[in-house]
Amino acid sequence: MSSNIFKVTDFLPRSHREKKLNQHSRVIWFTGLSGSGKTTLARALEKALADNGHLVYVLDGDNIRYGLNKDLGFDEPDRIENIRRIAEVSKLFADAGVITMNCFVSPTRTMRAMAESIIGKKDFIEVYVECPLEVCENRDVKGLYAKARRGEIADFTGITSPYEEPIQADIVIHTATTELDVCVVQLLQHLEPKLRNHNIDI
Ligand code: ADX
Repeated sequence: MSSNIFKVTDFLPRSHREKKLNQHSRVIWFTGLSGSGKTTLARALEKALADNGHLVYVLDGDNIRYGLNKDLGFDEPDRIENIRRIAEVSKLFADAGVITMNCFVSPTRTMRAMAESIIGKKDFIEVYVECPLEVCENRDVKGLYAKARRGEIADFTGITSPYEEPIQADIVIHTATTELDVCVVQLLQHLEPKLRNHNIDI
């Protein structure tokens, strides 16, 4: 970083925007294999939270890789950079008062720990979207597992690149055995108390 950069700190504080929006702007970080259901869950949760009056925004792996991170691939350094940028972006969203839901494979504990340390422990809520590899592979919504098995995709998570399960996720959702609407109820029960802001005197 250049030594000629000076941080400006006297803008309106985040608490001002959070009070206005009547919420705490946490970062809900979904991690799990490709096809485990991260995006499906985030879509359903986004609707439920919006219906409850929250301002939410979803950052999704595939979408972000079309734009901000289109220069990145899937080897380890690129994935680390992918997660680092997303963590920085979500930190800005949190400062803006907006709740984000981040859907990224984010395959290693080190990557997720980095995201947590950038975002801050208080704001980082890790959701492990648990689904056995065989089930994800059977779903193969995008046909990528078949391609990976044929050797047409390098470093494919779960096949030729590792996925490390979280040890202490804030919440674990089992998408292979739980109906979507039940998953959403589980998430809402866990998340709503963390997102509510009773301080509405603005
Ligand atoms: S991450 O590992 O860097 O967090 P990210 O979530 O951004 O991954 O992107 C994962 C998505 O990219 C998957 O859902 C899948 O659709 C697609 N994809 C393409 N190539 C790969 C690969 N080698 N490994 C995993 N996902 C891949």
